[in-house]
Amino acid sequence: MSLEREELADEAKEIEELEINLLLEAIYQRYGYDFRDYARAHLRRRLRHRLELSGLSDLGAMQHRLLCQRDFFEQLLRDLSINVTEMFRDPAAYRRIREDVVPLLKTYPYVKIWHAGCATGEEVYSTAILLHEEGLLERCRIYATDFNRVALQKAKEGVYPLERARQYNSNYQKSGGRASLVDYYRTDSESMLLKSWLRKQMVFADHNLVTDGVFSEMQLVVCRNVVIYFNRDLQERIFTTFHQSLCPGGFLWLGAKESLKLMKIGEKFSELYGSEKIFKKRLQ
Ligand SMILES: C[S@@+](CC[C@H](N)C(=O)[O-])C[C@H]1O[C@@H](n2cnc3c(N)ncnc32)[C@H](O)[C@@H]1O
Repeated sequence: MSLEREELADEAKEIEELEINLLLEAIYQRYGYDFRDYARAHLRRRLRHRLELSGLSDLGAMQHRLLCQRDFFEQLLRDLSINVTEMFRDPAAYRRIREDVVPLLKTYPYVKIWHAGCATGEEVYSTAILLHEEGLLERCRIYATDFNRVALQKAKEGVYPLERARQYNSNYQKSGGRASLVDYYRTDSESMLLKSWLRKQMVFADHNLVTDGVFSEMQLVVCRNVVIYFNRDLQERIFTTFHQSLCPGGFLWLGAKESLKLMKIGEKFSELYGSEKIFKKRLQ
């Protein structure tokens, strides 16, 4: 590339960054959702994708539409919140929770669990099934939160495509499941409908990790595949929220690609099971 073309490309990139900053600021001021510290590459990808689909000329025009049309903002909100999830995702980690963490949870008279960024709920039902099989569900309260209301509504309903059942059952078996996954759902022609008694101990709530407050005295915080979309500063803040939400000795369970390593708050946790991303809040 010639020097002149390189300079033009740099300038275009600079302008795009500026437009993204302005657009995120506009969203924050207009709707109160704060994406300013989300990972830049993720934001850029999602915004470019929406821009292309919208047929608008540039991010400036998109900002104007976002400010004027709530529906368009809601669409972008869904674009930015990636809801990919599955039942018993990372079976080895569920097995570790079942075999090594649940026995410790059993030492508490009552157990409070927070699933932060629960998406459409598959993960929450998986935890409920596991706790039921280990005889602990009745003594638990599971708080399931997400800032995406559409996803949260699906989580409350617990209805998933039947075509996923085979994979979910395979994950469940690998995770050390004691029965058969079909025991926990009914089917109709195209869906698996999770049994309603599994929801008995669940509380669903709209909660934004960036702008809303802490929960208190949790024994286990599960936040998997969420902070991966945040920049380092925001990850540090969210892990601090989790630290404040946990009782001393409480557990934090992260996603396969997430870690407390390199985080300042990491000093206040010990790594209990590194490969399964399970940490324990230090007593002091
Ligand atoms: C990829 S899903 C992870 C779902 C599930 N935890 C799992 O690991 O299978 C990420 C979820 O984080 C949620 N999320 C992203 N930013 C959030 C925020 N600021 N507050 C609450 N939830 C958020 C998204 O809406 C999405 O449902």
